[in-house]
Amino acid sequence: MAYGDQPTVKVDDIEIPLLGFGTWQLEPDDARRMVAEALRIGYRHIDTAWIYKNEKAVGEGIRDSGVPREDIFLTTKIWVEHFAHDALLKQAKESAESLGTTPDLLLLHWPKTTPSFAETLGALNEAKAQGLTRSIGLSNFPSKEFRQAQALSEARLVTNQVEHHPYLGVDLLVQTAEELGSSITAWSPLAQGKIVDDATISELAKAHGKTNGQVTLRWLIQHGIIAIPRTTKESRARENFDIFDFELSSEEMQRMDALNRGERLGDWLDPAFSWDAPQA
Ligand SMILES: NC(=O)c1ccc[n+]([C@@H]2O[C@H](COP(=O)([O-])OP(=O)(O)OC[C@H]3O[C@@H](n4cnc5c(N)ncnc54)[C@H](OP(=O)(O)O)[C@@H]3O)[C@@H](O)[C@H]2O)c1
Repeated sequence: MAYGDQPTVKVDDIEIPLLGFGTWQLEPDDARRMVAEALRIGYRHIDTAWIYKNEKAVGEGIRDSGVPREDIFLTTKIWVEHFAHDALLKQAKESAESLGTTPDLLLLHWPKTTPSFAETLGALNEAKAQGLTRSIGLSNFPSKEFRQAQALSEARLVTNQVEHHPYLGVDLLVQTAEELGSSITAWSPLAQGKIVDDATISELAKAHGKTNGQVTLRWLIQHGIIAIPRTTKESRARENFDIFDFELSSEEMQRMDALNRGERLGDWLDPAFSWDAPQA
């Protein structure tokens, strides 16, 4: 892997660029165009999922970009209906075929009560052993289930991709990831665009000659959190990538941290599980 001088997180021998490009809700044409554009701008980390119905387009965008495949970190996810052993392996093969390349990271999209974690984690490890992905991980697992899953997994679960932005803190998940030798990836890092109207973020943005989006993404990566913003616009993809030439002070980081109000924008957690209690 050659990511230039971009900051990364290292989990075991897996190096993940801290800034990625998300593709949820991108129709295939937009996904292909924007993935190619994002890679040309300099992004080296792309996030998709089977359920986004754009894996084929994401693969095409990667090839259109001209960026060598080995210089890109590519994530996709196993949908919840495919958590039984055979179904998981079948989807892992299908995703690799649609992408036209083996993903670097394969995540379980949301935790489920059935089949058992043991069956699903066993199958996910088999997918890795069969070369259907380079590494494995989770998405939307509360801390308790994150620990249970790791205890059942032979291979390290290299990330837990969860909703995280200035209005939703995830302190306990960050601590859990640290204890498990894993990492946290923030989905909806821009709170789906809500950060543009925030007075505190606007003030910090003005002080640095940056935009609200740039300050928010900078805050995340400065905390060592992987962020995967999404946009349909080339100008915004460029804007969101331009965050490596400034730094927030510790006081500014604390002001960003203080915006947490426990606001969740997307909640599809199985009612059998509970999110971590809000941190004091
Ligand atoms: N694992 C999961 O369950 C899960 C769930 C949700 C999302 N995700 C992943 O996380 C990625 C990002 O999350 P997301 O797409 O929900 O939300 P997001 O990245 O927080 O926000 C995307 C929205 O913000 C706008 N935007 C982009 N850059 C901006 C900027 N600099 N200033 C102001 N607005 C900006 C975009 O509009 P324009 O398109 O008009 O620019 C879009 O409407 C997804 O694409 C997906 O890959 C994962």
